[in-house]
This record gives sequence, structure tokens and C-alpha cells, in this order.
Amino acid sequence: MTLLTETATERPATLLDDYRRVRRFSERLAETLSPEDATLQSMTSASPTKWHLAHTTWFFETFLLRESIDYAPFDPVFQTLFNSYYNTVGVPYPRDKRGLLSRPSLEMTLDYRRSVDEHVERLLSADDLSDEQRRVMVLGLHHEQQHQELIVTDIKHALAHNPLDPIYREGAFRLGVAPKLEWLERDGGVRPIGHDGEGFGFDCEGPRHDALLRPHRLATRPVSCGEYLEFMKDRGYETPQLWLSDGWHAVQTEGWRAPLYWRDEGDGEWTAFTAAGRQTIDPAAPVCHVSYFEADAYARWAGARLPLEEELETATESLPMEGDFADTLIDAGWALHPQPLAAAERGLAQPFGAVWEWTASPFTAYPGYRPPDGALGEYNGKFMCNQFVLRGGSVATPSGHLRATYRNFFPATARWQFSGVRLAR
Ligand code: AVJ
Ligand code: FE
Repeated sequence: MTLLTETATERPATLLDDYRRVRRFSERLAETLSPEDATLQSMTSASPTKWHLAHTTWFFETFLLRESIDYAPFDPVFQTLFNSYYNTVGVPYPRDKRGLLSRPSLEMTLDYRRSVDEHVERLLSADDLSDEQRRVMVLGLHHEQQHQELIVTDIKHALAHNPLDPIYREGAFRLGVAPKLEWLERDGGVRPIGHDGEGFGFDCEGPRHDALLRPHRLATRPVSCGEYLEFMKDRGYETPQLWLSDGWHAVQTEGWRAPLYWRDEGDGEWTAFTAAGRQTIDPAAPVCHVSYFEADAYARWAGARLPLEEELETATESLPMEGDFADTLIDAGWALHPQPLAAAERGLAQPFGAVWEWTASPFTAYPGYRPPDGALGEYNGKFMCNQFVLRGGSVATPSGHLRATYRNFFPATARWQFSGVRLAR
């Protein structure tokens, strides 16, 4: 459990433990799926489970093993097949066709993992990793954790197309009442934000720099399904004044009239397809699977706005990293779905590990940001255009992955992540 505090000076034994634990959890996320399930790709931006299992392996093979002298690749074609977007490494196999890869089989993919694991574990046991190798190892683990979240969101999206309502993973739904929505008063001022380089952080989280905050208020909890239903009943989806132009366009062309996965059962009753089967909407649970446009329209309807990333970061930086994370939910038998929150302690109710919170901040470079040298410079920097930052992690995020400085990012139309809404004023 030391991943969060992993530094370049950590002993290799610990890194080996982290490696085994992280690699094992990816396989655990796939263990409820058949080979057919694991091969499905429902849209370009979602990938088959099998591809995620292979790509995370490819990452270690490409950036760690191939760099060392006597490594013979498991299969040279995999270099192309499981390259996501590193043009420096070669021409990646087309993203929209990942679902056409019936081969390698799931079994062969797991063999690929085992083979790379053996090599990596040997390297780790030898205790002579260079600082650079250690950095790549740690990055590879955080990378794999990002794909663990995507395994959950992508298989959910694929299975949702099936009228049989397939269950990805059984789990119980907690009962609760949404705590009263209150407003946390926050001062303005010049405040430092961003990762300071101590311990792991993705490149885009730094450099640490001053941000100017205006006095503002933050809602003490994310918007609930019950509140979102009020927006729907008030004809939110039919009121153009509430929407950004591109958002209104998406409402029209995509036919949006509720969050993704919701279904109108008539008489004002709605159900949602979840990772643990179809459920009646729980008004107490945080709303999720909304786009930036829906979050923004809801905020306008509510007489509020979306927070800025610096507001959320400074409000959460000293809070304990507690919440519902994928592994903790699974271990406790809970569904991988946002559960009703406990009332706010220390101001904000569960700012971590509930739903990713859309911010009004575009995903752009912090002052002084420079992408890392080499192929890994393609990791985040080249995506700093046309996306918004989300904060706080979700029920699909593995524990130990998140930080208060963490910047997730998705385009404004994206709805298949566990994305919700926290209001600001
Ligand atoms: C930060 C979630 C947008 O999905 O491409 C995975 C994570 N980066 N492999 C993505 C990521 C490289 C990234 N997101
Ligand atoms: Fe990746």
C-alpha cells in the first residue's frame, strides 16, 4: 500500500509488492467477464477489457523491458497492436478497431501478462534499477491504475447495450439520505496549487504555482439524483437558455433527456443500468454519468456555476484521502456505483471517491509546464486542448491512485465516466 508515497529512493522490495498488487487487481477486475465480454468495444473512446490488460502490459514491455539489453519481445506485432497513442514508438493500431481483435485470445493476453510480469519481477528483484527505470516503473503502475478505472467504465458502457442488462459485478446498494446541501464559505487570495514533485504525480499536475482565488462558496456535497430529477422535471433538457451552444447541439443530436444509463419507466419512475445490474434511481445518491454540458446546464438552472480546479484543490488538499474506491467497494461487497454519502465532516462530504467532479477549468498547461523528454512526453501534454479537468476520483478509481492535485480530463460531451456535479457560487 505504499504506492502513494513511492519515491525514487524506495527499496525495490516495496516496488515489487506494489507491482504484484496493482497487476493482480487488473486481473481481478476482469475475472467476472467471459472472453466474449472482454472482447467488446462499444465506441472509439472505450476499449475492450482484453485490450486494457494487454496495453498496460505493453507499457512495461515498451518503456522498461525493451530498453534493457537482452529482452526478446513476447510478440513483435504487439508493439503496434497495443500501442495506444505513442507516435514516437510507432504507428498505433487504429483505436476504433480494437474490438475486432478476437486474437490474441483472453487466455493468450493473460499469458502475455505473465511473461512480462516474470521479466519485470526479475528486474525488480535484482535490486539494481536505475533512477530512470524506477521512475518508469512507478509511472507504469499509476498508468495501470488509470486503465483499471477504464476497464470498469468501458465494460459498463459495452454491457449497457445489451437488453439482458448483464451484471458486470454483483454488489449491494447502501441506503441513505442525502445530507442537507450547505455552502462552504471560502476566502479569496493567492494560493499555491499543483504537485510539488515530492513523491509521484503525473507531469500535468505540476509545476506548483500560485493561483488567484476569488471569494466563493462550494456546495458541501455533490448534486444528488433527486435534485437532478427536479432539473429534469423542470424541463431542463428542453430549455435552451440553460445550455451552452455546443451542449444544446448535443442535446438535440444525441437526444439527451437524462444522464447516460437512465431509463424512463413511466409515471416519473426512472431506473439506471449500473455495474451491478439495473436499479431504481436512488434520489440520495450523487448523480453521475453526466457530461460537462449537463453539469454546466444544471449549475445554471440551480443559480450556481461549476467550481474551478484551484477552488477544489485548495478546499481538499488537507483532507484525508477517504472515500469509496473500486477495491475497497469490491472487498466490502458494495456495488461499483456511487452510494449515498455520509454527512459532511470538515466541510465537504466525500470530496474523494464518489464521483469525478466536472470543473469549469480547461485542461491546459500550468505555468512553466514542459512535457517530459522522449516518448513519455506524449503521455498527457498533447491532450491539452478541448478537454475539461475533473477532480476527486470516483467509485471506479482504485485506492492509492488519487491525490488532491490529480487532474483527470475528458471532452465536454463525455458521459461514460463516473462524472458528477459539485456546485460553486
Ligand atoms: C486521464 C483518463 C483521460 O483515458 O487516456 C491512460 C488516462 N493515459 N493511458 C486516458 C491514460 C494514458 C487518460 N485519462
Ligand atoms: Fe494508456
